[in-house]
Amino acid sequence: MSYPKVTVVGAGQVGATAAFTLITRDVGDVMLIDVAEGLPQGKALDMMHARSVLKFGPRAAGTNDYADTAGSDVVVITAGVPRRPGMTRDELLAINAGIVSSVIERAVAASPDAVFICVTNPLDVMTDLAWKLSGLPASRVFGMGGVLDSARFAYFIAEATGAAIGDVEALVVGAHGDAMVPLPRMSTVAGRPFTDLLPTEEVAEVVRRTVFCGAEVVGLLKTGSAFYAPGVSVAAMVEAILGDTGAILPSCVRLTGEYGIDGVHMSVPALLGRGGVLGVPELALDADELAALRASATQVAEQIAALEAARA
Ligand code: APR
Repeated sequence: MSYPKVTVVGAGQVGATAAFTLITRDVGDVMLIDVAEGLPQGKALDMMHARSVLKFGPRAAGTNDYADTAGSDVVVITAGVPRRPGMTRDELLAINAGIVSSVIERAVAASPDAVFICVTNPLDVMTDLAWKLSGLPASRVFGMGGVLDSARFAYFIAEATGAAIGDVEALVVGAHGDAMVPLPRMSTVAGRPFTDLLPTEEVAEVVRRTVFCGAEVVGLLKTGSAFYAPGVSVAAMVEAILGDTGAILPSCVRLTGEYGIDGVHMSVPALLGRGGVLGVPELALDADELAALRASATQVAEQIAALEAARA
């Protein structure tokens, strides 16, 4: 049996979690690549040792050489430095921009026909940079942000309402960061809008917790940022792409006029399939939601401009 090939750049916490999820769910063979010698090889070997226990078909391998990533169907970019307590966004931006630039050049040369998913933070700006440097259509270079933010929102909605997690459909759009836009009106518990289920102040508290829970995890871990939920979120996107499922997942895509936003990467529902982003079906947002989304876009645009000025 042959499987599609997924390269995961960065064999750290997020990359390894995504890789392990992909092989254990029989989605594809995974090539882990990292600048650290031995790290991707060691993690891949450890994952393969789990094979007889979990009985999965695909294989993981590790390398430090982009030649081994050639011909990938999907390339996931998690290479970078996670935000540590006290690190400013600008510091993170400068370090990770350098890393993403070097990665995208080599990864695209090895797999020019692949779909590229950026995970490195700050997500929206790194995805925009990766797309610009790739020379590829925006439909094949996008990012993972909305799936994770929506999963976190769903968790907090389930906790607050006592609902089974499987009954919750939650949606967060916009920038992946403090400017994200949770959409309580469009989030449901067994089909009922979340806004109908709890008093306004409790809904607001769930929204607040969702926006700041990434920082909450960083504060608790102290030596890194979240990786289980980010890892499985990127795996879900890869699964939709390789399975050509047509799933609509909130993804960090380049907007070209949708929602009145032009030339910015941020998360909105996107139709995913073998070719990458196949469409961006627009939500019927009300005036407040639209204003929040546009304010979020303005923040991303400012960060993109700041990075471009710094790199000029
Ligand atoms: N090429 C390949 N790998 C690289 C490069 C590079 N140029 N530079 C750094 N790396 C690797 C590191 O060696 C490390 O193994 O990227 C890996 C990052 O792993 P972690 O430090 O464990 O970080 P992680 O928690 O996985 O987060 C990675 O994803 O969610 C985002 O904010 C997070 O930007 C961060 C990224």
